[in-house]
Amino acid sequence: MSDTKAVVFDLYGTLYDVHSVAQRCDASYPGRGMEISAMWRQKQLEYTWLRSLMGQYISFEQATYDALVYTCNALRLDLDKATCDVLCEAYLNLSPYPEVPAALRRLQDIGLPLAILSNGSVFSIDSVVKNSGLQACFLHLLSVERVGVFKPDPRVYAFACQALDLLPAQILFVSSNAWDASGARHFGFDVCWINRRDSTFDELGVAPSYVVRGLDELPEIILATSPARTAPD
Ligand code: LAC
Repeated sequence: MSDTKAVVFDLYGTLYDVHSVAQRCDASYPGRGMEISAMWRQKQLEYTWLRSLMGQYISFEQATYDALVYTCNALRLDLDKATCDVLCEAYLNLSPYPEVPAALRRLQDIGLPLAILSNGSVFSIDSVVKNSGLQACFLHLLSVERVGVFKPDPRVYAFACQALDLLPAQILFVSSNAWDASGARHFGFDVCWINRRDSTFDELGVAPSYVVRGLDELPEIILATSPARTAPD
């Protein structure tokens, strides 16, 4: 990691807990919150990948909306417009994982520029980051909207290199999503996979460079593997 010049994060599921919407789902559909949230997220991801394959880019908000409609249809739940608006709005107000704010500040103190590279639209990324008060942590908020295709398409990772004016090997990419970590590793980033739930890494031909159980473990790894960097006082 001695070459690392910037740390680039995935957003959904990595810095922010997508299942923070489960509580809101539960308020609308008592007892079904987690079931709805899990299917909703899975379909949202599938729709981004399928849309990329079809060459039919849509905004992340649209994929989120479409996935919610599918989920409610599949679970035989009535979805009126007001409920749909409230639930989609919840995706703009996700909570960061508890260790994330302090870990981001520690990474900043080490002197590394931090950025987000997400499948979210410019509007979604800005909203989630601002609503959680973490905007001062990031030098760049990069959306796939500028590329018109979703991760793990390599053009998206290339866009991050271009925006940061760095080579792939100079970027440490951090994701909890194994499919995203794999795409980034194939592209040539150094990759840290955050495995908070003791999950199994995907079989996609690459392994992450580092595995941690929470973002709080990353600053020490960077300091240990980059002799030139020193811990701030
Ligand atoms: C992101 C989602 C897909 O790109 O995790 O932020």
